[in-house]
Amino acid sequence: MTDSMTELTILQPDDWHIHLRDDSALATTVPHAASSFNRVICMPNLVPPVKNVDDARAYRARIMEHLQASDLAAERQAAFDPRMTLYLTDRTTVQDIEMAAQSGIVQAVKLYPAGATTNSADGVTDINACVDVFEALERHNLPLLLHGEVTQNHVDIFDREKRFLDEVLAQIIIKFPTLKIVMEHITTSDAADFVLAQGNHIAATITPQHLMFNRNHLLVGGIKPHFYCLPILKRESHQKVLLDVATSGNPKFFLGTDSAPHATDKKEAACGCAGCYSAATALPLYATAFDSVGKIDKLEGFASRFGAQFYGLPVNESTITLIKTPMQVPAGYPYFDGSSLTPLMAGETLPWSIKA
Ligand code: DOR
Ligand code: ZN
Repeated sequence: MTDSMTELTILQPDDWHIHLRDDSALATTVPHAASSFNRVICMPNLVPPVKNVDDARAYRARIMEHLQASDLAAERQAAFDPRMTLYLTDRTTVQDIEMAAQSGIVQAVKLYPAGATTNSADGVTDINACVDVFEALERHNLPLLLHGEVTQNHVDIFDREKRFLDEVLAQIIIKFPTLKIVMEHITTSDAADFVLAQGNHIAATITPQHLMFNRNHLLVGGIKPHFYCLPILKRESHQKVLLDVATSGNPKFFLGTDSAPHATDKKEAACGCAGCYSAATALPLYATAFDSVGKIDKLEGFASRFGAQFYGLPVNESTITLIKTPMQVPAGYPYFDGSSLTPLMAGETLPWSIKA
């Protein structure tokens, strides 16, 4: 590996955190995700949410219908394997978890504190009421995926992740010492340090936007709604630590784009939605971030090995080649009902692209 590396072949990556949405949105999001990723962990925050195995099975079938209806190459279609998650509510039962563990299609369970983010109104209002469910997850070795932010109105938005670590996660790991946990889309050095201090059953995903940007990009010189996501971008010192740990080769940190489509007019609005869309360009984005600190050689572990290892799955057998040939991120994609979707870094040029 040298500075002058211009081509990189890695095992086919997986995306361990993605929002594909539902119905007609899938016509756009599914081929985008499947063009780069084999396995994707599909977030369950639909309206209504994916709450049990029956919901998960039906959602997976809708995803597969849109895959088959797309013009994606046959070999990409065959490789795509969406893995489902259940949305934890105050009414999730131990039986729901047991059925999920036996289903073969549910990879994990997602906890949104109620009100934390998009479509989280049905989320958990009292974590202390989830004891039986957490015990069942631990018993069945089913990972708990966390949107790690507290939601009390008086807590500053920039402090919500750290407060979650101190006040919620610290308690969970004491009560459930072998429960597998993923802190999703971490945004702070506090979260990186927290994960580093735990055993190998506790890991984190990191998005491209949190590696490449900080709150100045969001707020200086005018509000940039396409950088608005949750947890919100933090100060540059946090961005640097995230880039450090992502490129360190430590298997606790792996790829999860949190690609979260919202139609352009819903983001460019007086009360804009949270989420950055990156499904189609995620690999060039991550490659650009890793290369910016001279660590492109660490991309394969992060993108294609560590997530599978954490979930106890084999790594993929096929490969994908990235090439240091500039690509322009599209200004937008057609989305459903005549709307459009504006991707992260729309219209900008990235130094890396996917080799055809
Ligand atoms: O920015 C975000 N968008 N963060 C989340 O946690 C949810 C996501 C979405 O579903 O739009
Ligand atoms: Zn998400």
